[in-house]
Amino acid sequence: MSLQFRVLGSIAVLLVLALLCGGTLLLLHARSVAELEVHTAFRGAERSIRDTLQGNVEHTVTLRQVVASFEGQRHVRAALVNENGRVIVQSQLGHQKSPAPGWFENLMTPPPLASRIPINLPGFPCVVVLTSDPRNEIAEVWDNARNAFLTMLAFCVATMAVVSLAFAYAFGFLRRFQAGLQEVAQGRYDVRLDTKGAPELAALAQGFNHMTQRLAAFSDSNQRLERQIQNIQEEERAGIARDLHDEVGPYLFAIQVDANSAAKSADPKIRELGGTIRDAVLHVQRHVSDILRQLRPANDLEFGLQAAIADLILFWSRRYPGIHFESAITPGLQLDRRSEEAAFRIVQESLSNAVRHSSPQAIRIVIAEEAGGVAVCVEDNGGGLKQSGTGLGHMGLAGMEDRVRTLKGRFTVENLEGQGVRVRALLPRPRELEDA
Ligand SMILES: Nc1ncnc2c1ncn2[C@@H]1O[C@H](COP(=O)(O)OP(=O)(O)OP(=O)(O)O)[C@@H](O)[C@H]1O
Ligand SMILES: [Mg+2]
Repeated sequence: MSLQFRVLGSIAVLLVLALLCGGTLLLLHARSVAELEVHTAFRGAERSIRDTLQGNVEHTVTLRQVVASFEGQRHVRAALVNENGRVIVQSQLGHQKSPAPGWFENLMTPPPLASRIPINLPGFPCVVVLTSDPRNEIAEVWDNARNAFLTMLAFCVATMAVVSLAFAYAFGFLRRFQAGLQEVAQGRYDVRLDTKGAPELAALAQGFNHMTQRLAAFSDSNQRLERQIQNIQEEERAGIARDLHDEVGPYLFAIQVDANSAAKSADPKIRELGGTIRDAVLHVQRHVSDILRQLRPANDLEFGLQAAIADLILFWSRRYPGIHFESAITPGLQLDRRSEEAAFRIVQESLSNAVRHSSPQAIRIVIAEEAGGVAVCVEDNGGGLKQSGTGLGHMGLAGMEDRVRTLKGRFTVENLEGQGVRVRALLPRPRELEDA
């Protein structure tokens, strides 16, 4: 359940509880008010009758006047009743407001009050009967209680609306903040939050923006460093290749020449030894030239990516004649030197991985233009990736990924359905080529 829902739900429950408590208190108070009012009115009426009767009442006319004086009373009714129980005169209640609902009347109605006051008029014995009627009072109390309750209800609704708006604002910001963090987690550091609004949220947004600015700066300098490291690596490789070629190559050649001469010697023992040395030298020369190829791709690229990859295929198919190599490289690809070299290195490492780790029967290389740049894809149908194949000493995949990231491209390695592995890199087109 979301935090917003929980907090708003709790506030709503508290408000409803407050309403219930307030309503109950209102009812209790209203009941005591109704009872007190009716009781006071009744006792006042009773006292007034008794006071009047203490005077000299000699005639029924006076009694009629006494009873008539209760006409229009709101809570008490008076009646003059003769000895046969017949009502001679009776007062009517004052104007009744619109009555309260039945349930409220049932709750509020106090115990009924009634009083019989006997009068011994000579020749006319009779009784004044007083009865209470709380309906007027209850109708009034209902009006007050209902208004008070509606006011409380309006207050609760307004409170809930204001709190909901405040939470919607705050949680809207939190949602944007969370989305921003997700973007950052995916390596997009150009995301910024709006810094307008409440000072606390604005401070958070400023902190976030500051963080993404710093991250973007770090990422840029990282990429610069990676490029520098790659350049240094390339230079080192080129240096080692040069040394191998210039220092080891001539000596191997010299040994080969000497071995050839020895192989022509009259002495059969020396001849045999010369032949063995020559074979060994030929073996070492082949290896050195393989190493040189690996170390100096730039040389291969002098004749273009297509030729360099054809060379690579030749290199591996000689050693693994059982593997069927296939390549489809779109001619005239729009790649700058760095992207071309990255494409070559990706194909080189992917081929090496495929033949070393998965014993495939076929490997397919595709390099083609796509909407977002140039896609390099190498698929094999070997045994597929195993979980254990990452960590120290496994630099190939990480190296490919680094190269692609430096060029702001996308890189994936995945198992294919069925069997095999697909390595895929999307190298964005360099802007100057795009604009050309
Ligand atoms: N085409 C593939 N088929 C099956 N497994 C593969 C394939 N490519 C890579 N792997 C697995 O992924 C692991 C990591 O590959 P990675 O190229 O990073 O390291 P490596 O080849 O083991 O060592 P190196 O640093 O020499 O490249 C490999 O050890 C291997 O288990
Ligand atoms: Mg590898």
